[in-house]
Amino acid sequence: MKKLFIKTYGCQMNVYDSARMADLLAPLGYAPVQEPDDADMVILNTCHIREKAAEKVYSELGRLRRMKERKTQSGGSMLIAVAGCVAQAEGAEIVARQSAVDIVVGPQSYQRLPEMIARVSRGTGRALETDFPAEDKFDSLPEELSSSGPTAFLTVQEGCDKFCTFCVVPYTRGAEFSRSVAQIETEARKLVAKGAREITLLGQNVNAYRGAGEDGEPSSLAKLIRHLANIDGLERLRFTTSHPRDMDDDLIAVHGEVEKLMPYLHLPVQCGSDRILAAMNRQHKAGDYLKLVERIRDARTDIALSSDFIVGFPGESDKDFEATLSLVRDVGYAQAFSFKYSPRPGTPASTAAKQIPDEVKVARLAALQGLLTAQQKAFNQSCEGRSMAVLFEKAGRKAGQAVGRSPYLQPVHVDGAGDLIGEIRHVRIESVLPNSLKGVFADPPRVLEPATQSMAAQ
Ligand code: SAH
Ligand code: SF4
Ligand code: F3S
Repeated sequence: MKKLFIKTYGCQMNVYDSARMADLLAPLGYAPVQEPDDADMVILNTCHIREKAAEKVYSELGRLRRMKERKTQSGGSMLIAVAGCVAQAEGAEIVARQSAVDIVVGPQSYQRLPEMIARVSRGTGRALETDFPAEDKFDSLPEELSSSGPTAFLTVQEGCDKFCTFCVVPYTRGAEFSRSVAQIETEARKLVAKGAREITLLGQNVNAYRGAGEDGEPSSLAKLIRHLANIDGLERLRFTTSHPRDMDDDLIAVHGEVEKLMPYLHLPVQCGSDRILAAMNRQHKAGDYLKLVERIRDARTDIALSSDFIVGFPGESDKDFEATLSLVRDVGYAQAFSFKYSPRPGTPASTAAKQIPDEVKVARLAALQGLLTAQQKAFNQSCEGRSMAVLFEKAGRKAGQAVGRSPYLQPVHVDGAGDLIGEIRHVRIESVLPNSLKGVFADPPRVLEPATQSMAAQ
C-alpha cells in the first residue's frame, strides 16, 4: 500500500473533490493517511479566493520540499501535487516558485491524475493540466465511493457565470455546469448505502442548477430536492451556496414543503449598500434581499440564515458600511462569515481606484464581526430549553460523548451518545457554550439492559 496525504483548503467543493481524488487513486494502491511525513504522495487541494489562502500554499510547499528531500536521501520518494483553484489560476508559475512540485492539476481536470502520476513516475518530468476538458469530469470519476460518514457532500453544479467584480471563481472553475438528475440520484443512493444520513448538495451557484431531468428537459434545484427526498434512508438534505438572484418561488416553497430539507440557508449578501452592490455586480439591491428574506421566512418560519460579507470593497464609505450594519440588524443572522476585501489578480475590482486602507478594513471587520457574533449568540441562546433532532456525526472529546448537528447546523454535544454515530435523536438543549450547544436526550429513555433494569428497580 502507498500512503496518500491530501490537505484541503477553501470551500466544501474542494472537500468533495478531495474525496473523489482519494477514490480515484485507491485502485492504484494509495490509501489515505493523516500526516504528510512519510507519504508517497501529497496533494494540496488549494483555494485562490483571498491572498492569504493562496499564500498558505507556498509556505506549506516549503515544508513539503524539506520532507521530500529527507525521504529521497533515505532512498524513498514523494510525489507532490498541487490541485484546486491556485493550480488553475497560477499553473506553471507554481513550479517556477517551488521546484519540488511534480504535478499541477486544475479542478476540472483531476480525473486525469492517474495518467499524470504514471507520466511523472516514468521520469518524463512534471505534469501540468489546467485546461477545461470537453469530457464530463463526473463521467470519468470512479463509480465506487470508498466510504461515507453520516454526512456527505455531493457536487451537483460547478462553475459560475455571475462575474462578481471581486471574485476569482468564474476564472478558476469555469462556466456554470450542472450534472443530470439521474447521475446525482445514483451517487446519492451510493452515499446512503455507505452510511450517509444527510447530504449537502454543492455548487458555487447551487440554486442556478439546471441539470437534465428524467425527461431530458432542464430541471431545477427545487425539483431535484423533491426527487432526492424520496430516497429511503436519506434523512436530511441541505444545499449551498445560493445566490440571492436565483432564489425562485419554487425553491422558496420547497422550504415549507419538504420535511427532509433542513431549515438553514446560506444566502450571501456581501454588503448592504446599493452603490457597492452595483459595483460588485451582484445584480440586486439591499431592499430586494430583505424582501427575499421575508418571503423565505413566510415559507419556513423557523429558518436560520447565514451569509458572507466583504468589508472594504474599493470605494466603500463609512455610510456604505453603515448600510451593511443596518442590513445585518434587519435580517438577524444565526451565523455568518466576514472578510476583508482582498484584491485578486485579473478581477476588475483589483484595479479599481479608491482601494481602502488596511486599517479601515480592520476596524470595519471588527465592528461587523462584533455585531454578527452577538446575533449568533442570541440565536444559540434562543435554543436553550428547546428540543431538536440531532444527527450524531462523531465521538466527542469526553468518553461516551458524541457531537452532532442540529437542524440549524449548530454542533451539539451529548453525553452517553457515543454509540449513536449516524443516528438521529431528539435532544433538549441544556446550555449554550461559546461554539456549540450541550444537550440531553429528550426521547423516551432507550430500553435498559435487564441487569440495569433490576438494579434500577431496587
Ligand atoms: N458563490 C458564492 C461565493 C463563493 S466565494 C456567492 O456567490 O456568494 C465565498 C466567499 O468568499 C464570498 O461569498 C465572498 O464573501 C468571499 N470572497 C470572494 N472573493 C473575495 C475577495 N476578493 N476578497 C474577500 N472575500 C472574498
Ligand atoms: Fe464568485 Fe459571485 Fe460567482 Fe459567487 S456568484 S462564485 S461571489 S462570481
Ligand atoms: Fe476557493 Fe476555489 Fe472554492 S477559490 S472557495 S476553492 S471554488
